[in-house]
Amino acid sequence: MTTKTSSTASSTPAATLSGATSTPPSASPTTEATVLSGIQPSGGFHIGNYLGAVRDWVKLQEQYRCLYCIVDLHALTQTYDPAGLPGRVRELATELLACGIDPERATLFVQSHVPEHSELAWILSTVAPYGELSRMTQFKEKSERADYINCGLFTYPVLMAADILLYKATHVPVGEDQIQHLELTREVVRRFNNRFGPTFAEPMPIHKEPLRIMGLDGKQKMSKSLGNYIAVGDDPDTIRKKISGAFTDETRLRRKDPGHPESCYVCGLQQYFSPPDKVAELHEGCRTARIGCVDSKRALSDAMIASLASIQERKREIMAKPGLVDEILHEGARRARAVAKKTMAEVRERLGLLPAA
Ligand code: TYM
Repeated sequence: MTTKTSSTASSTPAATLSGATSTPPSASPTTEATVLSGIQPSGGFHIGNYLGAVRDWVKLQEQYRCLYCIVDLHALTQTYDPAGLPGRVRELATELLACGIDPERATLFVQSHVPEHSELAWILSTVAPYGELSRMTQFKEKSERADYINCGLFTYPVLMAADILLYKATHVPVGEDQIQHLELTREVVRRFNNRFGPTFAEPMPIHKEPLRIMGLDGKQKMSKSLGNYIAVGDDPDTIRKKISGAFTDETRLRRKDPGHPESCYVCGLQQYFSPPDKVAELHEGCRTARIGCVDSKRALSDAMIASLASIQERKREIMAKPGLVDEILHEGARRARAVAKKTMAEVRERLGLLPAA
């Protein structure tokens, strides 16, 4: 595998958060590993997004060619306020930069700034199997909550396949909820290559067991649309309030009852925000009823507030530089588009489309 040579060192405030490390990508020895991932600008960039995906984005940019995309076209599939969209895109870009995405190392861009995403999505929809698309769990879940079911919600994974294949990405760092979409991308690759000749490689996830961070209710995935999240930008009071209402351990009825840290939501989350010896101490305290759920929640709030403080500080610094984020996104789109154009020229030729003048 060829790795990307890195540029200047950058500070990555998010590195203060602890937890599991990513498995390094391994493409075939002759293929350059290319990492691509995306995130929707739906407001409320949360710790599930961070721990499930963005934390890996920051690490991967140290070694590989990485492209990170703010997928505004995907966000159109849900009811949204158009007037607020530019602000949400800029805020998300600011937060990604604050987490440690370095525009010198990774290409950070907005999906709609590269029109080739939509063009390739249409082409891929002509090979994507209808039956498999209708089995996508996220489609089923979102359809149940939607006012009406638009076609974009159904073909959402095809646009995601286009995002990945436009850059011939080999590795895709995502949380567990996106693995089924990635499987569909692999199926689309097989069908496309079968019909039109070898063009794309099948992209791989980064982790064998991708993360699924549960929401504060402890029952459903942490999600913007379910409102059961802690945002990376939440202030200390909000974090304390949210965690105080979080699910813990339903078998622990009285303060003196021994707890079960392995099945407790609050104890589980602690591992991402505290060093292992501190986690072990808290878990032991819970197990022996030396500490109660209120103490566990206080410890988690303290650790989370401390971990997120540097990201929030960096966010404020970036926001104090007007125009910087737009400049970074425009440069990112310029770089992404150069690659996208090449892929589309190849794809059009494979399909037998008559070249334009
Ligand atoms: P989105 O915007 O819902 O989430 C962005 C990333 O965060 C991960 N994630 C989670 N991980 C663990 N636990 C959670 N509770 C949790 N919630 C979210 C997601 O898995 C994702 O990695 N369809 C994608 C965006 C997308 C994309 C792509 C991703 C569009 N094109 C191409 C990869 C490659 C989405 O809606 O992510």
